Amino acid sequence: MAEWWRTAVVYQVYIRSFADGNADGTGDLTGLRARLPYLADLGVDAIWINPWYPSPLRDGGYDVADYRDIHPVFGTLAEAEAMITQAHDLGLRVIADIVPNHTSSEHAWFIEALAAPADSPQRARYWFRNGRGRDGALPPNNWRSTFGGSAWTRVTEPDGRPGQWYLHLFDESQPDLNWSNPEVVAEFLDMLRFWFDRGIDGFRIDVGHGLVKDPALPDLGIDAEGLLLEPAPDDHPHWDRPGVHEIYRGWRALADSYPEPRMFVGEVWVDDPARLTLYLRPDELHTSFAFELVDPDWDAAGLRSAITSATEAAALVAAPVTWVLSNHDIPRHVSRFGRPPRRRERWSADRYEFTGLDLDLGRTRARAAALLLLGLPGSAYLYQGEELGLEEVTDIPDHLRDDPVFHRSGGSEVGRDGCRVPLPWEPTGESFGFGADGAWLPQPTSWSRLSVATQQHDPDSMLGLYRRALAIRHREPALLAGPMTWQDSPPEVLRFVRSGPDGDVVVVVNLSRHRVRLPVGEVLLASSALPHGELPPDAAAWVRTTSEASSSPGIVQSSSG
Ligand code: GLC
Repeated sequence: MAEWWRTAVVYQVYIRSFADGNADGTGDLTGLRARLPYLADLGVDAIWINPWYPSPLRDGGYDVADYRDIHPVFGTLAEAEAMITQAHDLGLRVIADIVPNHTSSEHAWFIEALAAPADSPQRARYWFRNGRGRDGALPPNNWRSTFGGSAWTRVTEPDGRPGQWYLHLFDESQPDLNWSNPEVVAEFLDMLRFWFDRGIDGFRIDVGHGLVKDPALPDLGIDAEGLLLEPAPDDHPHWDRPGVHEIYRGWRALADSYPEPRMFVGEVWVDDPARLTLYLRPDELHTSFAFELVDPDWDAAGLRSAITSATEAAALVAAPVTWVLSNHDIPRHVSRFGRPPRRRERWSADRYEFTGLDLDLGRTRARAAALLLLGLPGSAYLYQGEELGLEEVTDIPDHLRDDPVFHRSGGSEVGRDGCRVPLPWEPTGESFGFGADGAWLPQPTSWSRLSVATQQHDPDSMLGLYRRALAIRHREPALLAGPMTWQDSPPEVLRFVRSGPDGDVVVVVNLSRHRVRLPVGEVLLASSALPHGELPPDAAAWVRTTSEASSSPGIVQSSSG
């Protein structure tokens, strides 16, 4: 299918934690290659692999030292090429991860910049500035790193004296590139070509709303409590600046120049869905994650409005919505849905607070969420391990924590390691079949029960549910590409129809505490057993109906059974 990315289900491979083929505790290409048949069998259309480039791994590989090679811990360039071929032979497309906002401080360009004087062309690839105050001892402005602390670090000049400062919106090992420099623009086009020529089908763009900065580097405003104020969205000095669209137009032209056009999926964090659509104009990115479903609790109103705002916005530019429940930056949704509801802001401090967590409930809801996710129109990304029902790991010892968020916050934020724990493949063995020699982050012993081998022959397991859902989605035109229309339902029930040429499929998700009636028709799949043919709380179903057969979804009894 030419525009395969419109409906694709893409499996995110966090390569460090997927499968360890050489038994050194870290996942790698050998491990991935051995498990590609598992992914083909699962029924996904493509894989997205997190950064695999040479890197000091200060931010899990999002600190790239060389964009045209593979980190030795993951394998070699030749192995990457063999993996791409093998994936293609299995019918899987391969999406790599490009990190354009910053390089690693071990990238050759940054090493050259440190050795070069102020105002040199080498420093002009980044944001070097003199400091403020006496002897330039204060940072050039008040911008903060996303990971905590100042966004500026002072360098020691080659003569040994304290000198200029450089900008890093993330860790100090991730200096921001200067995208107003044509050399940066040209380098990235060349690098994209390098991978496209090796068969990569597309790229996930890291921090896609970053890249361009206001060259005046103005201070952000400060409120009475001394907190930084966010300026109006169209005038933020370092996020979502209009100039970024020009860059993506250049990338799109390159992608479209291939006989089999390549695609982009943006990691673009903007609060207003209408601003996200600017990235999805026909000459820019093909898709961009809709992060709406990573925010709400298990709450019908929140989910309904999240789905509506994302779909309405994407429709304006005829782009598909790209749904995601979890990824390597977000607490796993089994744990999010299994905790009591709270008032949470995106990225608020309590996002790693799991008091009152009920994992069984979280897994029951995660099963329903899978049918919601895969029942929505558009594309969907699955994060490795969600098909096994893995939860967020909350008891990683501090000395093993790796995420710079943990270290830069002095431990006050636990960071993202809890969703990055290596997968369990077997019920026994030191790292549950991940690799022979222990895993780089410890796995909970309870994951023995969640291993691939434990679940793979059980159609009622989480893995079985994902497999069946993906197979049905592929063969039902309504589910794959049919338009979506909300249907009347009680407030705590989500119910919509996907219309298709051979019949409609109604998706019902019950977030109420009562059983609800299902429409008349054939139940294609349900996330839980259906006592008396009714949908219990925390469950979802797909029902094939003839267009007129959509009976009332009313609540049938007042207490959950
Ligand atoms: C993105 C990545 C995240 C990384 C950050 C900096 O948000 O998903 O893992 O830490 O960018 O590159």
